[in-house]
Amino acid sequence: MTLRTPVDLQWDTLGPEDLDRIIDLHARAIRGMGPDQVRPEHPEFFAGLLDGAGLIIGARGPAGDLVAYGVLQDGPDPGTRPDLWLGWPADARIQKLAGSSVAEAYRGRRLQCELIRRRVGLADPDAYLYATAAPSNPASWRSLLREGFEIRRLRRVYQDSLRYILARRTRMVAPSPTPMAEDAARPLDALPLDEQDRLLSQGWRGRLVAPAVCVLVPPEEVGT
Ligand SMILES: CC(C)(COP(=O)(O)OP(=O)(O)OC[C@H]1O[C@@H](n2cnc3c(N)ncnc32)[C@H](O)[C@@H]1OP(=O)(O)O)[C@@H](O)C(=O)NCCC(=O)NCCS
Repeated sequence: MTLRTPVDLQWDTLGPEDLDRIIDLHARAIRGMGPDQVRPEHPEFFAGLLDGAGLIIGARGPAGDLVAYGVLQDGPDPGTRPDLWLGWPADARIQKLAGSSVAEAYRGRRLQCELIRRRVGLADPDAYLYATAAPSNPASWRSLLREGFEIRRLRRVYQDSLRYILARRTRMVAPSPTPMAEDAARPLDALPLDEQDRLLSQGWRGRLVAPAVCVLVPPEEVGT
């Protein structure tokens, strides 16, 4: 796509006084989307984050209106064990990029990538980061892949909705360009979800190898 021109935005960590603006932007951003694409959040979720369960960053437009926000949650969702799903140490410091929204008029400017970069910059340097994105929401998971996340698993979460589990470390060593065996990687788009699930559970990882090309890389090629 042709990216739209950047705009002057003011970036901040949001506070309790922004709660209503966050709730309003979330409601507008997900209008028309089902829970199979994005999780509708309760106001208490955002209130808890502003009250110390993590942080929410936001961008304000020229008129001071909130045009984008992104959530960085301390710890995994209650009752979930990404450490077990992803083979992380039991004492891993886990933080979750737990949702973002961009107002319709500001889409197509890679603001979600900016939200991801900024939250990674605010995360604990030693943290294990994860995020979820529905396979049917490619705008969301492609942004995460662009910012160094890898697709690691496909799971049913949030009352039985299918999500990719994507992960990266805060401090990331760029994977060395290992010479990949001919035909080793498999284009994600060409694989049905049950085949993706099978390969991911065997240790294959989804990566972006060109602006819009995502592949699954076999375990022997993923590096560390
Ligand atoms: C997902 C979302 C955060 C992406 O934000 P963004 O900053 O617009 O992302 P990008 O600029 O990278 O654009 C992503 C894609 O959306 C497309 N797009 C969708 N609506 C668009 C619009 N109105 N104008 C321009 N591009 C648009 C872009 O073409 C782009 O496609 P590409 O990746 O093939 O190039 C935003 O669409 C959104 O708020 N969606 C609803 C909530 C949601 O799904 N959140 C993520 C999961 S929690």
